[in-house]
Amino acid sequence: MMGVDQTHVVILAAGQGTRMKSALPKVLHQIAGRPMIERVLQTAYAVNPDTITVIVGHQAEMVRIQLGTVPNIGFALQEPQLGTAHALQQAEPLLTGRLGTVVLLSGDVPLLSGGTLKRLVDTHRGSGAAATVVTATVERPYGYGRIVRTRGQVSRIVEERDASLSQRKITEINSGIYAFDLAPLFDALRSIASQNAQGEFYLTDVIAIYRRRKLLVETLLIDDAQEIRGINSRSELAEVSRLVRQKKNEELMAAGVTFIDPATTYVDPDAEIAADTVIHPGVVIEGKTRIGSACEIQAYVRILDSQIGDRVTINSFCLISGAHVAAGAALGPFAHLRPGTTVGENAKVGNFVELKNTNFGPRSKVNHLSYLGDATIGADVNVGAGTITCNYDGVNKHRTVVEDGAFIGSDSQLIAPVTVGKGAYVAAGSSITQNVPAGALGIARGRQNNVDGWAERRKDRSGKT
Ligand code: UD1
Ligand code: CA
Repeated sequence: MMGVDQTHVVILAAGQGTRMKSALPKVLHQIAGRPMIERVLQTAYAVNPDTITVIVGHQAEMVRIQLGTVPNIGFALQEPQLGTAHALQQAEPLLTGRLGTVVLLSGDVPLLSGGTLKRLVDTHRGSGAAATVVTATVERPYGYGRIVRTRGQVSRIVEERDASLSQRKITEINSGIYAFDLAPLFDALRSIASQNAQGEFYLTDVIAIYRRRKLLVETLLIDDAQEIRGINSRSELAEVSRLVRQKKNEELMAAGVTFIDPATTYVDPDAEIAADTVIHPGVVIEGKTRIGSACEIQAYVRILDSQIGDRVTINSFCLISGAHVAAGAALGPFAHLRPGTTVGENAKVGNFVELKNTNFGPRSKVNHLSYLGDATIGADVNVGAGTITCNYDGVNKHRTVVEDGAFIGSDSQLIAPVTVGKGAYVAAGSSITQNVPAGALGIARGRQNNVDGWAERRKDRSGKT
């Protein structure tokens, strides 16, 4: 029959997440740099879904905006939020006339792997069940729905708050992730009542209903219970974030990266680091950063969305954002590389130096206390301490060009647009407003005037003899 093999993912993301105590919807809270809901979506793609529907409710607009760039997802509004069964019911208009499997995901269960989800769909289709529930056995089941079995068969799911003392001792928990045959689903949801401790329409009740209707219910018991950890509080958020980071760091260590202290090193999942690079404590590497091999990243450096070549040394307390740093360069301590910056091979950018939208050439040096913005600095240039490009006239930004081999004396201002030619010199303390031709010396400062005997005369004037 047409459509029988279709897969429709529904993600529940309408709840307020009361226990988070947040103005931000729970599913937008981040785990290792990414909102939970995006992780759940990524997992969803593993089963090549024909449709994806996100149920939104609390702060619906914020969730929609966050996912606005994701193609081919539908939204259904749940207003008010009366429970998980009620949430799934909102997907009905989007799925009428379709057949196949509904894969139900929870926006607050972000660690589920694509592999497990595939296994769920395969098991479900293979057994021909009407519903398959993903479960796990855990030491501390508190807070989760429990899987109640009779003669080995799952007979119902009971929520923590509705469970009897003996049911609370059950260690097999409901992950909140299921596969359903679409055909009987929405009819069964309509017969769910809200007589329970929370007065909500529980999706978990569909299991008992199916059993009464003699429909086959299966479970998929998974080994790694971490995968199905739900996030209901800030403390669970922090703990799950830690697990994600730990996994990433372990992968990197297995691939040859040294972490002096993995517990305090934060590497986002999308970041890459090559072998033999050494990362010191307190380093934070975010976004789509790529770091080459044999680099040394000293303590308390933050790097985001940047490319770092091989054998780069980054001293402590640097902030590097949207920059490219070529092999062998040395940065910091306390350097700030802002977006649009490239640092050439074996170049040196020292302490209290800020580079913005600047190409800084190979082997060039800017060692102390400088601001270079909207500049093109050639190869083998020496930029003296305290040099500043005056790139902004209050309305427009202008470029400064310093050609190969030039020497900029300390405490100079290069007032853009301006070019210092190849091999030229700028005298220390100059305010350069005109181009300096190649090979010339540009000197632009008040001449020094020494007044002989001035100090003696001053003493006389003040009456002290
Ligand atoms: C739910 C399950 C529980 C399971 C646990 C796994 C029910 C009744 N309980 O409990 O058996 O062990 O997940 O993590 O299903 N949501 C809506 N609309 C609502 C209510 C919730 O969209 O009206 C969404 C939430 O945003 C969340 C998900 O559904 O993403 C789960 O809701 P939550 O309230 O966290 O359920 P739990 O108490 O964790
Ligand atoms: Ca939950």
